Amino acid sequence: MEKELDWGNLSFGYIPTDYNVRCYYRDGKWGDIEVSQSETVNLHIAATALHYGQEIFEGLKAFRGKDGKIRIFRLEENAKRIIDSAKGIMMEPVPAGLFAEMVKKVVKLNERFVPPYGSGASLYIRPLEIGISAQVGVKPASEYLFLILVSPVGPYFKSGFKPTNICIMRDFDRVAPKGTGRWKVGGNYAASLAAGEKAHSMGYSAVLYLDPKEKKYLDECGPANFFAIKDGRYITPASESILPSITNMSLMQLAQDMGIEVERRHITIDELAHIQEAAACGTAAVASPVGEIDDIDTGDKYVLSADGQPGPVTTALYNKLRAVQLGDEEDVHGWVTVL
Ligand code: PLP
Ligand code: COI
Repeated sequence: MEKELDWGNLSFGYIPTDYNVRCYYRDGKWGDIEVSQSETVNLHIAATALHYGQEIFEGLKAFRGKDGKIRIFRLEENAKRIIDSAKGIMMEPVPAGLFAEMVKKVVKLNERFVPPYGSGASLYIRPLEIGISAQVGVKPASEYLFLILVSPVGPYFKSGFKPTNICIMRDFDRVAPKGTGRWKVGGNYAASLAAGEKAHSMGYSAVLYLDPKEKKYLDECGPANFFAIKDGRYITPASESILPSITNMSLMQLAQDMGIEVERRHITIDELAHIQEAAACGTAAVASPVGEIDDIDTGDKYVLSADGQPGPVTTALYNKLRAVQLGDEEDVHGWVTVL
C-alpha cells in the first residue's frame, strides 16, 4: 500500500491486497495451502467453471476491535454452507478445517488491510471454489481450486445505514422453485443481474424477489435476506429458494436475546401493508433499512420510513450485531474467532 487507504470512505469494491491463498484438489485429495501474490488464475480452456458454471463462493468479514485485535465473524457457518453448496452442484466439498485454516491465514497475511476500529469499514473475505479440469460433456470436474481473496470494504449500499427503496418485479426470477437458490452458486448472481440493473436504473437499491413458484410470498432481497418488524415481532421468510443467511440467523438470535419474538414463515405480499420496519440483511448489507417497497406491476407502494430515518428495532439490532462483531460487547454465543 503505497499510500494509506481512506478507510472511512471505502465503497464495497475490490482493492488489491498483498496475498491470496489457494488449495487444489487433484488425484482425489486436497494439496498443500499455497500463498500467492498473483491476482490471476491460469485455467484450462475446457474447465467446468467456464462452461457449466461449477462455481460457488462465500462471503464473511473480519473486524478490528478497540483493543486492536482482529475478529472474524462466524467462519464455521460459512465453512458449513460452502460444503452444502459444493454438494448441491456436484463439486468436491472443502473440509471445514481446511476452510478455517485458510481463512485465518489469508487474514493474518493481509493484516495491514483490516480497517481501523471506528472507520465503519471491514475486511471482506471472499472464498471461492471452481471446477478446473477439462470436460466437454455436461459432467462434474474431477479437479478443483479453492481460493480465498480479501478486500477492505465499506457499506454495500452507498447510503450506509440509511433507508433505501426496493422494488418487486414479477418479470424476473433469480432461481427456480427447487433450483440452486439455497446454495451460494455463481449462476444465481448471473441470473439476478438483469433485474438488479433494471431496478438500479429506476433508482432502487435492490429487488425484493417473490417465491418463484406462486409469486405470492416474499423470498429475499437481492444479495441479502429480508426481515420485517410487524407489531414488535421479527418476521422473515421461510423458503426453499433463498440462501440461509448467517446474518439473518444471528439477528434472529439477537432479537430473541432482546425479548423480541421471531417468526420464520411464509410472508405474503399483502402483509407488507401491515409491517412497520423492513431491512435487507447479509454480510455485505449488514442490516440495511428499507424506506419504501414499490410493487412495480400493481403500482402499490408500502412506505416504511416517511422521515428518512431507520426504525427503532432495526437500529437496535444493527447496533447489537456490530457491537458483537467489533468486540464491543461480550461474544456470549461464541460467534467470533479472535486472531
Ligand atoms: N442471500 C443472498 C442471495 C446472498 O448473496 C447473501 C450474501 O451472502 C445473503 C442472502 C446473506 O447471507 P449472509 O448473511 O450469510 O452473508
Ligand atoms: C455477501 O453478503 O457476502 C454477499 O455475498 C453479497 C454479495 C456481495 C454477493
